[in-house]
Amino acid sequence: MKGADYLECLLTKGKQRIKGEVRVNGAKNAAVAILPASLLTEGAVRIDNLPKITDIGRLVEILKALGAKVTFSEGRCIYIDSSDVHTFSPPPSLVNTFRASYYLMGVLLGRFGKVEIPMPGGCDLGPRPIDQHIKGFTALGAQVELEQGLVKIKAKKLRGAHIYLDVVSVGATINIMLAAVKAEGKTVIENAAKEPEIVDVANFLNAMGAHVVGAGTDVIKIQGVSELGQAEHTVIPDRIEAGTFMIAAAATRGEALVKDIIPKHLDPVIAKLREVGVQLEVGPDWVKVNGNSELCPVDVKTFPYPGFPTDLQAPMMVLLTQAPGISFLTENVFEGRFRHVDELKKMGARIKLGGRTAIIEGGHELISAPLRAMDLRGGAAFIIAGLISHGETIITGVEHIDRGYEQIEERFQQLGVSVERRIISKVFPGK
Ligand code: UD1
Repeated sequence: MKGADYLECLLTKGKQRIKGEVRVNGAKNAAVAILPASLLTEGAVRIDNLPKITDIGRLVEILKALGAKVTFSEGRCIYIDSSDVHTFSPPPSLVNTFRASYYLMGVLLGRFGKVEIPMPGGCDLGPRPIDQHIKGFTALGAQVELEQGLVKIKAKKLRGAHIYLDVVSVGATINIMLAAVKAEGKTVIENAAKEPEIVDVANFLNAMGAHVVGAGTDVIKIQGVSELGQAEHTVIPDRIEAGTFMIAAAATRGEALVKDIIPKHLDPVIAKLREVGVQLEVGPDWVKVNGNSELCPVDVKTFPYPGFPTDLQAPMMVLLTQAPGISFLTENVFEGRFRHVDELKKMGARIKLGGRTAIIEGGHELISAPLRAMDLRGGAAFIIAGLISHGETIITGVEHIDRGYEQIEERFQQLGVSVERRIISKVFPGK
């Protein structure tokens, strides 16, 4: 029944407690770089533990449009043979839809010495420049032009360079790594981002025969190689997905076993949840959350890894509406990442914004209201808000949530709470 007059929504019942266990899927932010990275070799690659999310679906379409042979095998495994890739110009209509399409810049530049691509789309989190990516490509010897919305990058020859990033950027760090692995000589990226997803991409590149050392620290060194070969790789678990479920369990005062994760990647989240008063037991590849204790207000500041992740700022804000007292949540990574606040206020959340800091007066009940997700993680936060509020909550803008969470409603159902996907009329949302 989907069509111009209808749209998908998620419907949550309120006042529910999570009780159950959930397996965490492969990391979106690693997978969206690893798939394009496969174009750097003419050999075949096998990538396992891919999340089934729309950003990955779009990337697969782009790889096929560029000439790669893509085969899905059982479960979450994909084979990519890019020996016939022939073009450096991916289809604009697909590239426009998600942010991580910017990795095609580094990859196609590395493979063909040339790429023409529209500016990337993705979540609107305020200004998201790519100047540091461009700075890196230029240092490697490329010329970059912006012409009628197309970024045109070309290089006669890429040569290793010493690059100091002015801001700690996940995207720029990975993109420069991708462009540099086949450049002549040595590249050093200083002030590099240290996220686990960067380490995962470096491991994949090394499995193909690249020489990348230092990923996970703020200095990454890459010795260029002339060719890359076949490889197999398993994507790491998604720490943001894991953190979302952990926070959801805490906010609903429930219990959850979040499994198949790397708890170390969640250290900043585990520490902050403990400070809020949530009881956590940490195993080798799981975390048990028990939210059935008194919650306290806290001060949270988002920072690049190993700081508290900006991608969990919105879910954390929902949790803090339940902690009696005043909490402060400062967003240091993306200045425009507070679009969820107005929607939460519709539910009665007492939140004031002052610059980059949200001041949350917690301990008051939320009342259900129709919510519109405007970005991926804000949308996930609304599901949590719906679960703890009085009444039924309808969340639209589900396409944002589907970009990064696989079958989110089923995952919450596994955790024992009612979240359903529905098709509703645009004219009378909620009927
Ligand atoms: C990636 C993640 C996103 C996460 C973010 C921060 C992917 C696909 N997305 O986004 O989920 O929220 O890291 O952990 O992995 N900046 C510049 N110039 C640049 C690049 C970035 O000024 O050239 C600024 C950004 O505006 C932002 C900060 O640097 O303020 C960090 O951005 P960055 O780490 O690059 O985020 P993304 O790679 O876009």
